[in-house]
Amino acid sequence: MFQGVLFDLDGVITDTAEYHYRAWKKLADQLGITIDRKFNEKLKGVSREDSLALILAHGDQSDRYTAEEFASLAKEKNDNYVTMIQQVSPADVYPGILDLLKELKKAGIKIALASASKNGPTLLDKMKLSDYFDAIVDPASVAAGKPAPDIYLAAAQQLGLEAKDCIGIEDAQAGIASIKTSGALPVGVGKTEDLGTDIPLVATTKELTFDYLKQVWIENR
Ligand code: BG6
Ligand code: MG
Repeated sequence: MFQGVLFDLDGVITDTAEYHYRAWKKLADQLGITIDRKFNEKLKGVSREDSLALILAHGDQSDRYTAEEFASLAKEKNDNYVTMIQQVSPADVYPGILDLLKELKKAGIKIALASASKNGPTLLDKMKLSDYFDAIVDPASVAAGKPAPDIYLAAAQQLGLEAKDCIGIEDAQAGIASIKTSGALPVGVGKTEDLGTDIPLVATTKELTFDYLKQVWIENR
């Protein structure tokens, strides 16, 4: 049996992936760069700075801004994003997630947050979920962001576990790559066209029950 579950946040626990997209789109529009939802799949799971670098490269503007201007663009996006998430509440937790957290706790399975977002702890507080988490990795503390495995390795380590004894849950291409390399078992939330056909996927979090995770573990380990 698995001993820990390592959760991504944006797009797995709640719909904040949508707010990240809207905030990036707003900034990209201002810069005269067109991004769409397909391009956004590449931004999911990726740090704020790396996301901005990808957007600028997409618009052939990689060399246009000084380091200071770059930082101020990243700040502008985050300020917009933070305004958007002010109203987030327990009502915004995706279907099935609270029950899953409760069942995992009852079964003595450890729970960690492996989100790239510096806004993660604030969001968990707003959704009143912080107490379910045995560990919350500070994304600033890991050397390399997703798709590197560092954050999932750190999440397992902070639970006192090995990644191979954990399941990681992700909605992002970069996040799934990160889980795979860490040695944890990936479960994706999303579509095969975005996330591939080589890992177990659920279309919505409603399907993410404890029984489903146990079944996935038996079939894939
Ligand atoms: C990830 C999101 O969880 O966090 C990305 O999927 C986001 O879209 C990244 O860029 C960093 O978030 P933040 O809140 O620190 O800018
Ligand atoms: Mg995500």
